[in-house]
Amino acid sequence: MSAQQEGFAEVVVGAVARTTWAWRVELAMLGVVAVMAGATYDALGPPWHVVAVIGVGLPFGSVPVLRRWLVRLLHRSHVRRTWLAAVRRLDIASFQERLPVVSRVREVPAGYRLEARVPPRGCVDDLVRVAERIAADLGARDVRVRRFAEDAGRAEVVVVRRDPLAAPQPLRWPLATAERTSLWQPVPVGVDEDGRTVSMSLPEHNLLLGGEPGAGKSAALSLLTAAAALDPTVKLWLLDGKLVELATWAGCAEHSVGANVADAVDVLRTLQVDMGARYAQLLAQRRRKVGPDDGLPLNVVVCDELAMYLTVGDRKERTEFAEVLRDLVARGRAAGIIVLAATQKPATDIVPSSLRDLFGFRWALRCATRDASDTILGAGWATLGYSAAEIDAGLRGVGYLLHEGGEPTRLRSFWLDDDSLFAVADRAEAVRRQAAEAGE
Ligand SMILES: Nc1ncnc2c1ncn2[C@@H]1O[C@H](COP(=O)(O)OP(=O)(O)OP(=O)(O)O)[C@@H](O)[C@H]1O
Ligand SMILES: [Mg+2]
Repeated sequence: MSAQQEGFAEVVVGAVARTTWAWRVELAMLGVVAVMAGATYDALGPPWHVVAVIGVGLPFGSVPVLRRWLVRLLHRSHVRRTWLAAVRRLDIASFQERLPVVSRVREVPAGYRLEARVPPRGCVDDLVRVAERIAADLGARDVRVRRFAEDAGRAEVVVVRRDPLAAPQPLRWPLATAERTSLWQPVPVGVDEDGRTVSMSLPEHNLLLGGEPGAGKSAALSLLTAAAALDPTVKLWLLDGKLVELATWAGCAEHSVGANVADAVDVLRTLQVDMGARYAQLLAQRRRKVGPDDGLPLNVVVCDELAMYLTVGDRKERTEFAEVLRDLVARGRAAGIIVLAATQKPATDIVPSSLRDLFGFRWALRCATRDASDTILGAGWATLGYSAAEIDAGLRGVGYLLHEGGEPTRLRSFWLDDDSLFAVADRAEAVRRQAAEAGE
């Protein structure tokens, strides 16, 4: 055989082996049918062998649970095959003509989740780089690739076919009817793409919320403010650049400031003095931070329209505001100070990076650009597929939250309509009055 013939034979054998492997589930089923037909032909003879095969196959067509299982099995096989075919067409150089090994395919509300091992000499980043092209090839909304934290060779791939967060009905906040809360417990803030409740643990954390006008920042902030208000041991400090967003909680607040930078500075200075006293107290008690059982209240600073305090009015006051807030975010954590700030655009010309970078939790609601999304979540996330610029303009309250986990969670926030909001605020005021009377 000539070298050319050998090369040709190799290509043919490779193609047959690849095709057989890709269709293994369907081929295995055909094999089972063929073996059954052969065995029953010998035992029963025609035409009874056909009747026997149909009899065995009938439950898979008529019993819903078996039919669903079969359809899912075939669909998963199809997803695995089409994804691998798309990867093969891209001809990724470092894969050296080998393909990832898909170990698991699972249906998720957004579409399909695959687990794959990249070939030797390849890495998950090779898949990350071509994710957008794979999505285009598959005609999918999106393809997200994430490296397993514990294994650099394994990737989780989500082929996004639909948006599970696009339901028209707003999501009701689970604490809307709670009598009272404890802010030491995680606060439910929304639902992720798998339908799981996403909760945020506030003690020792500060949150920066950003997004374009009308994206749902104030609505998200109102959930956290409500949870803080319902805990009578929490001291609330409200800074509201728009005056109306936080007005509902004024009856629960220690201090409430509107669009006045000088007043805001005064209030934050008061808290700064408190913080100094709190640290002195901790030192005297030989402790390093405030805990849930020591009776020291958490102080929650809620600032809506942060940009207003940093850009409007007297320059000296604005600088002072940025400095005091920066100090509270930087040093307040162990003293039980939690800063929750929302702004449309936290770019450096508005929010100094020395302040912005200190916020540990980031929540990006819909943004106009990938850069804006990265400014909120941190540089690089948009490239990895976590971009709030990709959220549909009509999806209010949908965004990415970067908190406990390693990567941002896509979620839709719960919604408190006006009636529920006022009901919660009334309840919060009542519970605070009772606590004061009981000397809590
Ligand atoms: N989670 C949600 N579920 C349903 N609707 C929502 C949700 N969040 C926000 N909305 C809708 O979007 C509107 C705008 O929300 P919100 O006022 O919170 O936006 P914003 O980002 O604070 O805007 P701005 O920058 O102008 O202050 C709300 O009035 C509400 O109708
Ligand atoms: Mg707002």
